[in-house]
Amino acid sequence: MPLVTGDFILQHARKNNYAVCAFNVENMEMVQAVVSAAEETGSPVIIQTSANTVKYAHMDYYYAMVQAALKHADVPVALHLDHGDSRDLAIQAIRSGYTSVMIDASKQSFEDNMKETKNVVDVCKPIGVSIEAELGNVGGKVGDQEYGAAGYTKPNEAKEFVEKTGTTSLAVAIGTVHGVYAGEPNLDLELLAELRNTVDVPLVLHGASGLSEHDIKQCVEHGISKINYATELRIAFTEAVKEYFTIEKDFVDPKKFTGHARSIVKQVAIEKMEMCGSINRASTMNI
Ligand code: G3H
Ligand code: ZN
Repeated sequence: MPLVTGDFILQHARKNNYAVCAFNVENMEMVQAVVSAAEETGSPVIIQTSANTVKYAHMDYYYAMVQAALKHADVPVALHLDHGDSRDLAIQAIRSGYTSVMIDASKQSFEDNMKETKNVVDVCKPIGVSIEAELGNVGGKVGDQEYGAAGYTKPNEAKEFVEKTGTTSLAVAIGTVHGVYAGEPNLDLELLAELRNTVDVPLVLHGASGLSEHDIKQCVEHGISKINYATELRIAFTEAVKEYFTIEKDFVDPKKFTGHARSIVKQVAIEKMEMCGSINRASTMNI
């Protein structure tokens, strides 16, 4: 099946009150694991690569790997640039064949974030590429300042932001953090519900690694349509490789440990799809 847009998947999720998992991938095995998990569970899915990942290898490589996987699968998949930081990078993603891009100018002032986002929207919208922007401070990345509740997304600003920029989805700050949580995450679900009722585009949750099943289900119930997982998948892959080296010592074939890691990542992806409620949704989409 050919790639679909992020909007196609997210609009279906929003309308039907579930969330789609968006998994950050780093290599071929992770692409295979995610597509295979989606196919086995009949789940639409978003595959994404971060701005750092696409510094490691050009987006052409990830596009080619996803296309190859889709030759052998019949499930809706969108390919998304995660945390893109410029219009140029968004254009590069479009040229590589990505069907969705994020422009993250959330560290800039409200006005500059709007301006930067609108610049990307103007490139993407006419050609049907989906756009995700971010408003508020999720934090947790190296060098991020922590604002606490003061950095949460404000509903009145979110409304103005979406209307003026025309972004087709919005990442919101409601208490999640990128990476591993130091303490108990404290999510503002009331704020999330208010945001859901204030803006009419799908809402995106960043920093989902480490959230409990209960928290994820609450976020979906209160209005999240896309849930981003990066750290947990990286940990699953890397720990599986390390584990393999403790079990088997006498081997020379790299496929042994990458294959083991691939099957573990697939299991994790299926667990997340179950939590988000995306299982068996593909068959209800109009493709
Ligand atoms: O953009 C990617 C995500 O927000 C991933 O966050 O690393 O905490 O899973 P995570
Ligand atoms: Zn993120």
